[in-house]
Amino acid sequence: MPGGYTRCPFSYVMFLGTAAVVTLLIKQQKTKQQQDEYERSLPSLPVCEVVFVLGGPGAGKGTQCQLLQERLGGGNTWVHLSAGDLLRAERESGGELGDLINAKIAAGELVPSSITCQCIERGMIAAFQKNKTTKFLIDGFPRSHENMKAWEDTMYIHTIKFVLDFECPEEVLVGRLLERGKDSGRSDDNIETIRKRFKTHQESAVPIIDYFQQQGIQVHKIDSARSVIQVYASVLLLFKQ
Ligand code: ADP
Ligand code: C5P
Ligand code: MG
Repeated sequence: MPGGYTRCPFSYVMFLGTAAVVTLLIKQQKTKQQQDEYERSLPSLPVCEVVFVLGGPGAGKGTQCQLLQERLGGGNTWVHLSAGDLLRAERESGGELGDLINAKIAAGELVPSSITCQCIERGMIAAFQKNKTTKFLIDGFPRSHENMKAWEDTMYIHTIKFVLDFECPEEVLVGRLLERGKDSGRSDDNIETIRKRFKTHQESAVPIIDYFQQQGIQVHKIDSARSVIQVYASVLLLFKQ
């Protein structure tokens, strides 16, 4: 064909093939970048399951959570995080924050919710990083609408399995707390602060139970005036369901 050229079908196929391979490589590279970006943006915690464990001071929240943590097994491991214990540990860091936490605990009042919620989140992250734990018994939280709001603002991805509400008459609670106060070393296990803690509990924590019920979150009321083992038997049933 004079003055012109013929397209060789073979080179045409080669050209298309190379273009397809290059496009595929670029696509793969992009997907890898997107994947890396996605992983970097992931929160440090996956979606976790939580049980909120509530009840007045001395109701046995810590005792039952410890038992559940130690005894539930077979892939059904729950880690106990006590809001009060986390705050007591946080105040050891000293400074103004330590002083604030100290003052609130000694007065039987609630520490600002953002502080408590951050302590819980850090406790969850530490347990997840250590043992890949994603199931938590959160003891003594939320104790007010403000606590719950802080949770909903920052921890909303987690699933609330149910709420345990330990019920026990005040006179029984006073006896238990004064007994515990003999060797707990806690600044709030004395009769004046115990009274203030009861007041805080009635005013701030009791209304949150109604809130859960309104939200359709299951609340299991447990009579915790019984022996430790009787209470545990009732609680255990709920985790076996
Ligand atoms: P909370 O964490 O709700 O404040 P704790 O689990 O620390 O309560 O219990 C308060 C005190 O009462 C502790 O000294 C504990 O040993 C004791 N106690 C807990 N549960 C019972 C129970 N069912 N019967 C008698 N004493 C109990
Ligand atoms: O649950 P515990 O009895 O260990 O709590 C001790 C104190 O810690 C409370 O009286 C309160 O001052 C503080 N606290 C709080 N907010 C919570 C739980 C505990 O301010 N959600
Ligand atoms: Mg406790």
